[in-house]
Amino acid sequence: MEISLKNLNFGVPAAERDDDLISCFVITESYQNITKGKKCIVLGNRGTGKSAVFRKLADEEKAKNNIIIQLAPEEYSYELLSNTLRKEMEGSWAKHGAYSAAWKYLIYVTIMKNLSHQGKRFKQGPEARIYNYLRDQYAGTDTNPIGMLISYLKRMEGIKIGKYEAAIKTAELRRLYSLEEIEPLINDIEAACRNKKVIVLIDELDKGWDASEDAIAFVSGLFQAAVSINNKLNSVKILISLRKELYENIPTLYEDAQKVRDIIETIEWDEPKLLELIARRVIKKLPGLQLDSYENIWNSVFSEVLDYRQTKSFNYIVDRTLYRPREIIQYCNDVAEYSRRMLIPPPLPFNYKHIAEAEYGYSESRLKDICAEYRFQFPGLQSLMETFRGQSYNYDRESLEDHLLKVIVGEFQISREASSWCGSLDPETLVDILWSIGFIRAQAVGGLKARRRSGSEYLGSHQISSLNLRNIKRFHVHPMFRSYLGLKESKA
Ligand SMILES: Nc1ncnc2c1ncn2[C@@H]1O[C@H](COP(=O)(O)OP(=O)(O)O)[C@@H](O)[C@H]1O
Ligand SMILES: [Mg+2]
Repeated sequence: MEISLKNLNFGVPAAERDDDLISCFVITESYQNITKGKKCIVLGNRGTGKSAVFRKLADEEKAKNNIIIQLAPEEYSYELLSNTLRKEMEGSWAKHGAYSAAWKYLIYVTIMKNLSHQGKRFKQGPEARIYNYLRDQYAGTDTNPIGMLISYLKRMEGIKIGKYEAAIKTAELRRLYSLEEIEPLINDIEAACRNKKVIVLIDELDKGWDASEDAIAFVSGLFQAAVSINNKLNSVKILISLRKELYENIPTLYEDAQKVRDIIETIEWDEPKLLELIARRVIKKLPGLQLDSYENIWNSVFSEVLDYRQTKSFNYIVDRTLYRPREIIQYCNDVAEYSRRMLIPPPLPFNYKHIAEAEYGYSESRLKDICAEYRFQFPGLQSLMETFRGQSYNYDRESLEDHLLKVIVGEFQISREASSWCGSLDPETLVDILWSIGFIRAQAVGGLKARRRSGSEYLGSHQISSLNLRNIKRFHVHPMFRSYLGLKESKA
């Protein structure tokens, strides 16, 4: 059967809106690690599939009749927190601990509410005690989660900052920190679960993120609460996802987590899995296609070898990503979209011309997206990238450090935001930063083991987790950024 360009679509950018996610889901090693064992923190860059993992997990667990609780993004509001709560300085109250207690409170109450909505009423036993507690505390009120969290924090804040006698203050605070109110019900929660599990999924904590004191305490308090509840209750499992770069920039979190490394899973992809991801979607959209190897399915849409240096089309495309599903989906969609708009839409498979024509737009949107992703850690990053415009993409260490030194001393114009952090660094550190965000790749020397099957001898931070960068002599700008920046191969 003739496969048609008209129906060709490789997916959508976000898992929440992806109707094909469950039927096209790719089981990665990360996913397997998350489903078994005690992983409760899922880390990943934007578009690596954090929400996808949670959706798939929710689907699987529902099928097993377990209870799924999802805390939705609209319900956190960092701005609201900052506006509502006093600053740490004002009342010298340790917010991290307060948030952790408030989170535990919120999660326990939410679980109890869900349990009491299940099935029949009990006259006695754990279900009845939970029901009675909720009835007495929350009769007629329908507090949203963030409201519940804030009111618990407010109670603590009121005592800390209020004018009470010291002894009363301590006693009251201890009651709140130790969740005295619900402590007696915790065993009832476990008992009421019986053969069920309760899975609490908390995603998109980065939405509305403003790096404020409250935002940081909110997230680190949640981590602590999750670890503590997961250890306490066998039938409850709390899973949190977080963008990797946010996680690395919350010192309390990062330090805490070093002690509990085995509960963290970082989502990672490799080339075969990304090929599978696209192939599964192609099969779905083009049902006339023969079920075949993933390679052959790919080749029915993109000609296998590009007339450009005999590169394989899959390698060419995957080489222009940081191994994130959202990127490869976007690039493939851009190629299809570009071709659809042509005066005479071409027959499949696409060739080098089609892939190359879509590259500039893709490159531009990826560069801007990466800069947006790092806007708190490295504000004004785009102006630093712009200093490379029109240059060659190959650098030996000396010429790269030389370029960056010019940036640091202001010989290349960068934005004021960017010079606020660049200006105080040395070139070597800037090299590390550019490598960690994926802008440059390092020439691999020796038998380095990396998640790469093909393509270039240069490796990016998405392909190899530990690399002693200081020993690297040659770098190049990652191909994803080249088209937009108009980079050329050096003649040397
Ligand atoms: N394991 C997977 N199998 C199939 N598609 C996936 C998988 N992981 C991610 N995707 C797809 O990639 C895109 C980005 O994933 P998403 O979960 O939204 O990323 P994140 O939440 O990390 O930003 C979505 O379209 C999603 O459906
Ligand atoms: Mg998401």
